[in-house]
Amino acid sequence: DKDGYKHFMAKEIAEQPSVLANALSAYVTEHGIALPDPGIDFSKIDRLTMVACGTAFYACFTAKYWFEQLAGMPVEVDVASEFRYREPPITKGTAALFVSQSGETADTLAALRYCQGKADKIFSVVNVSESSIARESDLALPIHAGAEIGVASTKAFTCQLNVLLLLALKAAVERGRMTQDRLEDILEGLRAMPGTFNAALDRDADFSSISSRLAESRDVLFLGRGLMYPLALEGALKLKEISYIHAEAYASGELKHGPIALIDQHMPVVVFAPKDSLFEKTVSNMQEVMARGGKVVLITDAAGAEAAGEDVWRTVVLPAVPEVLSPLLYALPAQLLAYHTAVAKGTDVDQPRNLAKSVTVE
Ligand code: F6R
Repeated sequence: DKDGYKHFMAKEIAEQPSVLANALSAYVTEHGIALPDPGIDFSKIDRLTMVACGTAFYACFTAKYWFEQLAGMPVEVDVASEFRYREPPITKGTAALFVSQSGETADTLAALRYCQGKADKIFSVVNVSESSIARESDLALPIHAGAEIGVASTKAFTCQLNVLLLLALKAAVERGRMTQDRLEDILEGLRAMPGTFNAALDRDADFSSISSRLAESRDVLFLGRGLMYPLALEGALKLKEISYIHAEAYASGELKHGPIALIDQHMPVVVFAPKDSLFEKTVSNMQEVMARGGKVVLITDAAGAEAAGEDVWRTVVLPAVPEVLSPLLYALPAQLLAYHTAVAKGTDVDQPRNLAKSVTVE
């Protein structure tokens, strides 16, 4: 039941603070990380291979940055439909991780079966615990998102990020790359995340007003760097699938290698840029867009808004969070911009054309 919301998607976006709080209570105690033991000693693993489709793939792509930066762990990510037919060599010392909300996605399941007998360990991050992918893994970690009805994945994405971040932190500790103090700081920020999400949800009217303009566009470009690059990809996917507006995402630094040719006053450019270690770089890419008449929608925090200057078309200010946690929070603008744009266009938000919630055929 929609609980008074107009769409399941609206409900599932809005319930993220409580869903996340629930997921955290399962996996983070006052003593630290309390994940079920994945049966993996990350200090003995040479390589992590992560495979998924769609939004779950973008969760993996985000996690690649976390595992590399926090744990110094070599990581490969791929979409399942490519991975399964590439004949990728799986060397000893590889752990293979599959992420799927439904746990039934045909390509992801086939990729998992490809790794059986080759990888040292096969584990999965799923929402549906009684699914094929969960059953065929050595260990399945549930994300505790609750049933997700809207075809566009929202709360499952944030809960996937949550589990993947905890795994990356566990790997960082086991590989001797993280002090207890730093771990405690990050976990403190995670425990505060439901409240932070609530504060960000208060910006809902900003997103709906921007979306009324996005709804008039034929194309929208999303940009981000570092941890914000996978988020830009997720923002573009969400917008495409429910509003049917063509959207693309680029790593900001790639702009001048081609896509900048597209920039004119008709194509809004959504930039995800908290004031993090890459902010100056992103802003300089953003200025290149504005110098060519591009309309920039900047999603940032207060410090970022102040530093970005006055020529930005629209700015939404989110709470400031530690850099490592920004993907969780910036999932929200990706979802809300798509949702309000679809509502403004009058599309079928929960059942977009041509899409199914669970893709059990390849
Ligand atoms: C996007 C979306 C799809 C799924 C993809 C994988 O909003 O819902 O891209 O993320 O089909 O599905 P699961 O996670 O069930 O394997």
